[in-house]
Amino acid sequence: MALRIGVPKETATDEKRVATVPDVVEKLVKLGFSVAVESGAGDTADCSDDTYRAAGAEIVEGAAKLWSTSDIVFKVLAPTAEEVGLMHEGQTLISFIWPAQNPELMQQLAERKVTVLAIDALPRQLSRAQKMDALTSQAGVAGYRAVVEAANAFGRFFNGQITAAGKVQPAKVFIAGAGVAGLAAIGTAAGLGAIVRANDTRAEVADQVKSLGGEFVKVEYEEEGAGGGGYAKVMSEGFQQAQREMYAKQAKEVDIIITTALIPGKPAPRLITADMVKSMKPGSVIVDMAAERGGNCELTEPGKTVVKHGVTIVGYTDLNSRMSKQSSTLYATNLFRIAEELCKTKDGVINVNMEDDAIRGLTVVKEGAITWPPPPLNLPTPPAKPAAAAPAAKKGHGHGGDSTPASATSTAVKFGIAALAFWFVGANAPAAFLGHFTVFVLACFVGYMVVWNVTPALHTPLMSVTNAISSIIAIGALVQIAPPLLGSGAARPESWIHWLAWVGIALTAINMFGGFAVTQRMLQMFRK
Ligand code: NAI
Repeated sequence: MALRIGVPKETATDEKRVATVPDVVEKLVKLGFSVAVESGAGDTADCSDDTYRAAGAEIVEGAAKLWSTSDIVFKVLAPTAEEVGLMHEGQTLISFIWPAQNPELMQQLAERKVTVLAIDALPRQLSRAQKMDALTSQAGVAGYRAVVEAANAFGRFFNGQITAAGKVQPAKVFIAGAGVAGLAAIGTAAGLGAIVRANDTRAEVADQVKSLGGEFVKVEYEEEGAGGGGYAKVMSEGFQQAQREMYAKQAKEVDIIITTALIPGKPAPRLITADMVKSMKPGSVIVDMAAERGGNCELTEPGKTVVKHGVTIVGYTDLNSRMSKQSSTLYATNLFRIAEELCKTKDGVINVNMEDDAIRGLTVVKEGAITWPPPPLNLPTPPAKPAAAAPAAKKGHGHGGDSTPASATSTAVKFGIAALAFWFVGANAPAAFLGHFTVFVLACFVGYMVVWNVTPALHTPLMSVTNAISSIIAIGALVQIAPPLLGSGAARPESWIHWLAWVGIALTAINMFGGFAVTQRMLQMFRK
């Protein structure tokens, strides 16, 4: 029998999101479920009861009836003790839970003999889990909103302008922490025309910062910042000191700081000291996205906007609720993707398959038994980086004294040798070869310049288009089959060459059309 999904109204004050939206209700109904929504649940996210009804949901009055008549409950925030009290044996709940921080809640849920999927426990490292990743979708919205809040509190334009009344300098924005929220903030601030700089302890995000239009500012201290699973770790005192010096310098230069730095299971790292705030220009803005976890700035007051030393410090902890329609729509889509995984048969019946890595990670209570934490995932280990090799090679260069003149000399020597080789080829090679050779050298030069001047994020579409263009070799095959077709009277090639040419054409056609199709799809991802 088809199961019933219930969506209650969120009870926490200031929580404006709702766990499903009318568009998604239609999709859930197509999966075979029936959907019930508590009356008024979507009001704060601009989804009225009527729009849910029109999408095929039943509107239910009151939380008690909603919880008691639902087989599966979709929620945003972890349930309160009262809500847990409304649950019944055999029910399934999907919401944020944060099991590590809420052991008591886990116990209460287990006692109710229910099954609980914690959206925050999703193994985010699995690429197929990305569509279900609510942490990412919500952080993206919050990062965007942080820039909007900064713009609201800032008394100037973000972009530089030349007007009749004079020249306006662009605002300088510094983003601390370039995870999901930080990257969204970088893209938004750059889109508004600001000069954006960013820093993160994980050096691997530098390219992502650049591809979104930001500049990565490095801490001059060698230390690996990745703490496993794509997350950060607490850095050494030496690193923190070097980082503070760099942040102090940035604080004096920039107009806006947006901080997003978090470390799993730890309080937010303190990155912006009171002295740094003091050193900022009057009218500057700090948006502390880590406010809920203690804040990245010493002077942040969680949930509030305060002005200290002439700097506005925004410590809102409800950035997602401030964009409740967008956050709810993305969250609802994440839950729908989970529903799809649970109901592969599309008949409104779920199977919490503990053999499936994504479902196993999500499931924190199964029929009354606590199943959190899950066993570690068996992921292929990435190849080790030749980290030690690079500095060693640098040192070697430095032996003869200053490395700059040494590298200038070696470049000059290389150029000299290349010039001699060219002269030798020019003086001795036959004329026909010289023509081809010139084209070859020019092709290498143009290819090098094209690839190196294209943003790294566009390398894949570039590869696929060059792949398609390389199908020019089809011309060779066409020439082989051409004489008999055109009736030029030329000798017919050996029949095996003829057939080989046809095979060649067929294979290059796949390369050609496939290459252009892939390029097209990739470029669409970058189009607005
Ligand atoms: P988060 O919210 O835990 O942390 C935000 C950022 O703060 C991180 O980039 C972290 O490196 C940085 N940070 C921590 N301490 C810092 C310090 N002292 N100074 C400067 N920066 C500091 O992380 P989030 O945004 O939830 O994701 C972390 C990473 O995981 C991201 O790179 C994201 O792309 C990756 N991720 C990977 C997925 C996958 O592999 N499929 C899925 C989702 C996220």
